[in-house]
Amino acid sequence: MVKLGVNVDHVATVREARGISEPDPVTAALLAELGGADGITVHLREDRRHIQERDVRAIKETIKTRLNLELALAPEILTFALKVKPHAATFVPEKREELTTEGGLDVISHRKKLEPVIKEFQDNGIVVSLFIDPDPDQIAMAAEIGAEYIEIHTGRYCDATTPAETNHEFALIDQACITATNFGLKVNAGHGLNYRNVREIASLPDIKELNIGHSIIGHSIFVGIERAVREMKALLP
Ligand code: PXP
Repeated sequence: MVKLGVNVDHVATVREARGISEPDPVTAALLAELGGADGITVHLREDRRHIQERDVRAIKETIKTRLNLELALAPEILTFALKVKPHAATFVPEKREELTTEGGLDVISHRKKLEPVIKEFQDNGIVVSLFIDPDPDQIAMAAEIGAEYIEIHTGRYCDATTPAETNHEFALIDQACITATNFGLKVNAGHGLNYRNVREIASLPDIKELNIGHSIIGHSIFVGIERAVREMKALLP
C-alpha cells in the first residue's frame, strides 16, 4: 500500500491572504484524515508565508496520524522543530523568492551541516527524510550521512511537456528508487503530483509514501477536502 501524506500549506496560504484566523489548516488536517490521509505534511518556511508555529503545534497535538514537518536548515526552525518533535522531518531547500520548493536539497554541498542535524533529530526520535532530485550521487550521500528516508523530487517529471521528456524523467525516478533501496534507504516522493499523473509514480514498487498538496487542496475547493483526499487515495495501489 502506498501511503498518502496530505500537505495542507495552501489552506494557510488562503488564511494569510486575509491575515485572519480562517480557513484553519488544523481543520483541514482533521478532514484530510477523515478522507483517509495517512499523514499530514506542513512546511514551516523561514518567511512564514503560510504555515505558522501555532499551526505546527496544533496539528501535532490534534491529528491521529503522523506529522511530517518540512524545513530548511535554518537555526531557528531547527530549534523549533526539536521542541515540537514531529514524527518526521523532511529537509528541503528554501529560497525566499521561490513560488514553491524548486529543485531538491543539495546534500553533497550541505553534508557538513546536515550530518550532525540528522543525528540530533534521530536522537530526539524524529524520522529524517531528505528531499532530493533523482540523482545517484545525491542518493549515495543521503545514505552516507545517515538519513533513513529520501523523498524524490517529482517536479521535473510532472512538468515534462513531451512524451520523450516524460519518459526520461520517469526513468530517472525509477532508477533512483532502485539505487536508494540498494543503499538501504526508504523512498517517498512528491511535488507536482496530481489526479492525472499520480498513478505511474505510485506504481513504482519501492515508493512508500507520496506527499501531495496543491492538487488536493485545489480540488477540495470544489468537492471538499474529505472527498478530494478520498479520490486521491483511490488512485493509489
Ligand atoms: N514534497 C515536498 C518536499 C514539498 O516541498 C512539497 C511542496 O510543498 C510537496 C511535496 C507537495 O508538492 P505539491 O504541492 O506540488 O503537491
